[in-house]
Parts: sequence; structure tokens; C-alpha cells
Amino acid sequence: SGFRATVLTLYPEMFPGPLGLSLSGRALDRGDWSLDVANIRDAATDRHRSVDDTPSGGGPGMVMRADVVARAIDTVSPADDPRPRLYMSPRGRRLDQRLVRDLAAGPGVVILCGRFEGLDERVIEGRGLIEVSIGDYVLSGGELAAQVTLDAVVRLLPGVMGKIESGSEESFEAGLLEYPQYTRPQVWEGREIPEILTSGDHGRIRAWRRAEAERITRERRPDLWDAYRAGTDGTT
Ligand code: ADE
Repeated sequence: SGFRATVLTLYPEMFPGPLGLSLSGRALDRGDWSLDVANIRDAATDRHRSVDDTPSGGGPGMVMRADVVARAIDTVSPADDPRPRLYMSPRGRRLDQRLVRDLAAGPGVVILCGRFEGLDERVIEGRGLIEVSIGDYVLSGGELAAQVTLDAVVRLLPGVMGKIESGSEESFEAGLLEYPQYTRPQVWEGREIPEILTSGDHGRIRAWRRAEAERITRERRPDLWDAYRAGTDGTT
């Protein structure tokens, strides 16, 4: 579908990683999307190819240099690139299924993966980077967060998922958690498959699944349950 992903990282060996396997890997092989990986260090100019420097004002760690990172971005993404430029960071907007769907509907993404203590703020402003977090915990770099983001986006691209889970019977698309699933045998360690599921009555099965999805959402995620009931489930 022509979705183009470009990743900027100091650890290009981390890609494609899991994105080269399974659903996303097969989609990559089919040409449903493309992945280009650029080493930020290739944009360094000095003899030691340095990409970071000490924080202005003092303090621990190192900061990624604005000039080097901007050159890396400009090399893969011209000023008129229509693709959003994401910077993976725990300070960012939380990734959710709505953002995933919006990204999948666009032409692609450029994703900058940070390392060290951070990135010079001026390159975030100057290159229009959108900060995105995958959750309230701190990873040692943006690479895994970029892979999580791309995995979630790629499975929504046209042709990638095929028949199963075409994306809308799915919990998060409906704003609910998934109903329980079972497969044979009918009895396992004394536990039975709910008889309704083997009844062949697809109307009752649909109603049972909806009721179970609602129960599980209410019990486990009151925040999602409130949004679902208000009709503002965050996925729509
Ligand atoms: N980099 C480090 N931690 C991160 C997180 N939680 N989300 C996105 N990028 C990150």
C-alpha cells in the first residue's frame, strides 16, 4: 500500500528485528510497506563521528546534538515530506489505537529513536517532531518503542491482516477488551467450553461475546468502560 517507514537510530542493527518476522515481516516481503533504516552517526562530521555532547547547564549524561540529528533527518526527509516525524520519548503523547489508526491512514512515518539523556530541544521544534510515548515507563532507547509503534500500524495497512481480525470486530476498535476464546477439546482438565459457543446459534453467541467483553472491561478497566458508556471511547 506504499506506506513508507524510515527509522533514524544509533543502533541500526536492531532493525528490522521482530518487524522482519511474522505478520509485519510477510507484509514487508510482499511490499505492503517499506522500512528504511538510517544510522544517525552517518550524519556526524568530525573525526570521532560524535553525535552527543554534555548538557548545557550541567548535570549527568549526554544530549544528542541538534546539528547532527537535524542533518540525519534532512538526509532522509526533505522539508516537503508529507510524512509525520515522530520522536519516541516518555514525554510524548501516549500511543493509542486512535493514533495508530491515523498513522496507518497516512503516507508513512519518519521515526527518530533517542538514546542518552535526551535530544537538544531545538531540533524537536525546528524539525516539527511529534513526541510519542508507548507508556509510563522508561526504556533505554526509542528503538523498541519504534518497533511497537510500527507493529501496531502495519497490521492495519490494507492487505496485511486479511480475513482474521479485519480490525473492527476487535476489542479496542469497539472500545472494549476481548471476549474469552476457546478451542477444542470440549473438556480440558475438567473445564468445559461454555455450551453456548457450541450451540451453533450465532445470534446468541454474538450476544454472549458482547456481554463477556463488557463484563471484562468493567472489571479490569473502569477507565475504558466509562469512555465506552459515554460513547467517547477514545478509539472513535
Ligand atoms: N524512550 C524511552 N522510553 C520510552 C517510552 N516509554 N516511550 C517511547 N519512547 C521511549
